[in-house]
Amino acid sequence: MPYAQSFMKKILITGGAGFIGSHVVRLFVNQYTDYHIYNLDCLTYAGNLSNLSDVDQAPNYTFIKGDITDAVLVDKLFETHQFDGVIHLAAESHVDRSIQNPLAFVQTNVIGTVNLLNAFRKNFKKPHQLFYHISTDEVYGSLDEGGFFVETTPYDPQSPYSASKASSDHFVRAYHNTYKIPVIISNCSNNYGPNQFPEKLIPLCISNIRQGKPLPIYGKGENVRDWLYVVDHARAINTIFHQGNVGETYNIGGLNEWQNIDLVRLLCKVMDEKLGQAAGTSEKLITYVTDRAGHDLRYAIDATKLTTTLGWKPTVTFEEGLSKTVDWYLANELWLNQILSGEYQNYYAQQYQNR
Ligand code: NAD
Ligand code: DAU
Repeated sequence: MPYAQSFMKKILITGGAGFIGSHVVRLFVNQYTDYHIYNLDCLTYAGNLSNLSDVDQAPNYTFIKGDITDAVLVDKLFETHQFDGVIHLAAESHVDRSIQNPLAFVQTNVIGTVNLLNAFRKNFKKPHQLFYHISTDEVYGSLDEGGFFVETTPYDPQSPYSASKASSDHFVRAYHNTYKIPVIISNCSNNYGPNQFPEKLIPLCISNIRQGKPLPIYGKGENVRDWLYVVDHARAINTIFHQGNVGETYNIGGLNEWQNIDLVRLLCKVMDEKLGQAAGTSEKLITYVTDRAGHDLRYAIDATKLTTTLGWKPTVTFEEGLSKTVDWYLANELWLNQILSGEYQNYYAQQYQNR
C-alpha cells in the first residue's frame, strides 16, 4: 500500500544537518510548503548548520538540536509533535572512523535507531504515519567482478559501519513485523556532491589537491564503487517516501561504477582544468598507501525495482556531477577551511600518518 500523501503534515528528518540530510531537508522545505519539516540533529563533527543557510529562515522549517541516543528527549519530541512521517538519516557514516571507534557506531546507528522506533511505536495512532529508514548498499557485503546487489541479496556486512547499519535495518524490519508499524527502507550506493565532509574520497581529494597534499589511494586503487549525485538520492528519497509501498525495501544506485584510481585520475583532470593548471599536475599527488582493513572490493546496485515501479532515475551524469561538485568546493572555501582548521586535523593525522 503506498503512503497517503494527502494526510502528511509534520515530518521529522533526523541528521538533516549532514551531507545527504541537508539536501533532503532543502528539497522538502522548498517543495512541500504545506508540510512542517523538523530537523533533529545533534551536530557531530559531520553536522553543519551552514549546509542549510538558504532554508533555515523558512516558515515551514524548525531545527532541533538533540541526540537520537537520548531516549527521553526523543520520546518527548514524538509526544509533543505527533509526527506524520519520519525520514531517518542520522548516523555515524564513515567506514574508516568505524574501524577506529566501533562503539560510537553501535550507539548512534543501532541504539539511536531503536530509540526512534520505540518513540514512533508509542505514538503510532494514525494509519498514514510512516517510518522511512535510510540505509546503505554496504549491508550486502562485497561483490567480486560480476553481479549486482538486489533487494533480496542476503546481508553480509563486513565493516563495523556496515554491521551497525545492517543491525539498524534488521530492527526496523523486526518492528514492522512485530508491532505492525509502517516502515520503508532504502539502501543506496556512494553519494557525492556539495556539502560532503572531506573525510570521504571525493571531497578529500578535492581538498588535498587545493592544498598540494598527497592523494591517499588505499591498496592498489582497484576497489569499485557506484557513485550517485546527492541531489538524485534526495529525489529518490522523496519518491519512495510518497509512493513507496509500506514494508518494502528499495535499492538506489547510479549505474555508475568506477575503480577508485580511475575516478581519482578523472577528478585530477577536472581539477587541473578548473584551477587552470597544466594537465597532469594533480595526478602527481597520487600516493598509494596501506589498504583499509577489510576493504570491500566492489559494490554495485541493481535499482530496477525503483526505476520500474516508482519511475525514479538519476538525472545528473557523472561528468556533470563532478564538475558541479568541484565548482561548489572551489566557491565555498570558507566552508572547507572552517572544517580543515578544526578537529579534522587530529582525525587526519590519526588516519593517514605513517600509512
Ligand atoms: P553525514 O555523516 O554527513 O551526516 C550525519 C548527520 O547525522 C550529521 O549531521 C550528524 O550531526 C548527525 N548525527 C550523527 N549522530 C547523531 C546523533 N546521535 N543524534 C542526532 N544526529 C546525529 O552522513 P551522510 O553521508 O549524509 O549519510 C546520511 C545517511 O545516509 C546515513 O544514515 C548513512 O548511513 C546513509 N548513507 C550514506 C551514503 C553516502 O554515500 N554518504 C550512502 C548510502 C547511505
Ligand atoms: O556505499 C555507500 C557508502 O559509501 C555509505 O554507506 C557510507 O556512508 C559512505 O561513507 C561510503 O562508504 P565508502 O567507504 O565506500 O566511501 P569512502 O569515500 O570512504 O571511500 C570510497 C572508496 O575510496 C573506498 O574504496 C575507499 C577508498 N578510499 C577512501 C579514502 C577516504 C581511498 O582509497 N582513500 C581514502 O583516503
